[in-house]
Amino acid sequence: MYISIEKAAKILRTGGIVAIPTETVYGLAGNAFDETAVAKIFAVKERPFFDPLIAHIAEIEELENLAAEIPRNAKLLAEKFWPGPLTLVLPKKEKVPDLTTGGLPTVAVRMPQKQIAREIIKLAGFPLAAPSANKFQHLSPTSAEHVLEQLSGKIDGIVNGGVCEVGVESTVVGFENDIPVIYRPGAVTKEMIEEGMGYGVWGMEKNLKVVLSPGMLEKHYSPNTLLSLELPSEVPPNCGLLAFGKLPENTTLFAKTLNLSANENLTEAAANLYGMLHELDSCELNKIYAMLLPPIGLGVAINDRLGKAASVPIV
Ligand code: TXA
Ligand code: MG
Repeated sequence: MYISIEKAAKILRTGGIVAIPTETVYGLAGNAFDETAVAKIFAVKERPFFDPLIAHIAEIEELENLAAEIPRNAKLLAEKFWPGPLTLVLPKKEKVPDLTTGGLPTVAVRMPQKQIAREIIKLAGFPLAAPSANKFQHLSPTSAEHVLEQLSGKIDGIVNGGVCEVGVESTVVGFENDIPVIYRPGAVTKEMIEEGMGYGVWGMEKNLKVVLSPGMLEKHYSPNTLLSLELPSEVPPNCGLLAFGKLPENTTLFAKTLNLSANENLTEAAANLYGMLHELDSCELNKIYAMLLPPIGLGVAINDRLGKAASVPIV
């Protein structure tokens, strides 16, 4: 199942689909311009066609192949944060298939930081449509083993690039009258964007009631085990705890406890998030309880994913 980048590029050029590592999570990649390849991605993920994919590029210039217009602020953000965990939603060129964009007139584009991902894109010779390499609404994979668990035998190969350094999906940013609006919080935080732009931008709060981006659906990124964000005063039997920072006093009553970051490091917590959720999910627990993080910086993205994993909206 594990293949070289050359083999991956060859498979991609003949319309196949392969899982590739990025710095955020593993993606399930196919030619963004090939509707048949894109259809395979939707089928394997069991993802509804209205949920659009991100097209991944290796060089900033390739943006022009996908976007019909590049607002000034989009260009500034791309120059500042690419390569990296930032996805820009822009008006699409006609040649981008509707299937790739879920029928939307816009296309989401990202240039990943991970070298191996960019090498595969370059070798393939076209942008790669790549959603996270997991079944729809399930946990995202941050290692090649996670991909194997969910998609083994259903895809044409996996490029093993080790563990994803960042661990949560990219920040998705759209533009309203040239002003950036965050559709999905991620590793490029609101604070970083505001510092880069020199003015305030809209965060999730603006759009909560409108599903502008299907990634805003409430249930998403979920383990199979029930997940709750309200810590119990009395711990029921056979429950897990996903902690952050100082452990609560009743910790020993949990059957299994994992700590995202004992010394409250948000970067470490993001990198551990899906791996620890995968691990707790494999322990046959009755329920997992997770502690929320301080809602600053990367904490916003982590809380967003925890809220979706538990099917409760987190503002
Ligand atoms: O870090 C990431 O972004 C990873 C890696 C593989 O690059 N990819 C990823 O893809 O998370 P996916 O498909 O799981 O999430 C894509 C998100 C979804 O929330 C989708 O709704 C949003 O991007 N999106 C894509 N195209 C869009 C568009 N035209 N308008 C609004 N949102 C869009
Ligand atoms: Mg996903």
